[in-house]
Amino acid sequence: MSESHPRISKAVIPAAGLGTRFLPATKATPKEMLPVVDKPAIQYVVEEAVGAGLSDVLMVTGRNKRPLEDHFDRNYELEEALSRKGDAARLARVQESSDLATMHYVRQGDPRGLGHAVLCAAPHVGEQPFAVLLGDDLIDPRDPLLSRMVDVRERAGGSVVALMEVEPSQVHLYGCAAVEATGEDGVVRVTGLVEKPDPAEAPSNYAIIGRYVLDPAVFGILRETGPGRGGEIQLTDALETLAADEAIGGPVHGVVFKGRRYDTGDRGDYLRAIVRLACEREDLGPDFRAWLRRYVTEEM
Ligand code: UTP
Repeated sequence: MSESHPRISKAVIPAAGLGTRFLPATKATPKEMLPVVDKPAIQYVVEEAVGAGLSDVLMVTGRNKRPLEDHFDRNYELEEALSRKGDAARLARVQESSDLATMHYVRQGDPRGLGHAVLCAAPHVGEQPFAVLLGDDLIDPRDPLLSRMVDVRERAGGSVVALMEVEPSQVHLYGCAAVEATGEDGVVRVTGLVEKPDPAEAPSNYAIIGRYVLDPAVFGILRETGPGRGGEIQLTDALETLAADEAIGGPVHGVVFKGRRYDTGDRGDYLRAIVRLACEREDLGPDFRAWLRRYVTEEM
């Protein structure tokens, strides 16, 4: 770590989207609170931030923010009831989320896009580099990504995005990066970015997934960035400006992720996440796997 590239300590988790793909479940509940086995999706994301050394977490919330705040707060009534019963195991599970990190909240108001959600974090973040973890993007804890991105930022400065190779037919669902090799395995230089391109115009099949390490210069750009695709202020558009001119906020690198990742805001991926994580659990896995095998062979 050099002095000009300070250590990162803050994580920002945008969780203010409307979650329309998951209606009606998300009518009164944020999609980030939907359980993945027995933990809300957002808790995995906060655990990941803490695991990468970022224990100051700012959540950008919108309407229906109460369940998010309550989940990371103490619940004295429940704790009291569990201690009275002597149920130490469940008490520990209840306390896990409130002891995890130093949580802060800011309200986005109107969901004007991911770029706008990140801009809401500017007063809290200040002039330090910071990480952004999308609250509906679940990275398997056994496949570390964020710590590698933090490491690249600390060595190279600038900003770092997470990239994943996808089928060309899927590129239109993501932000897409034009890249150059760096000589370091799994790390590329990002030379351009396009939000949800038509397949014919996609510069590559490297899709941006929901982890970023950003230079604070991004805030100045976001303030100047007008609505882009879908009428929303797009983080990808601001990153494109950074990638096009290194003088603004340093280079943009990409860390290529080859591990397990689930978009829990997508119903199919959400189901896959639950089945896979439930199968791998020591307590639930043996029974669930046996049932699943029977179901697949006998009933499908
Ligand atoms: P999505 O693109 O998944 O949008 O946002 P969405 O509105 O949440 O969901 P759908 O597409 O309607 O189902 C990606 C991430 O950015 C956050 C979301 O909460 C999610 O974590 N986001 C998006 C905001 O915080 N604010 C916004 O204005 C938009």
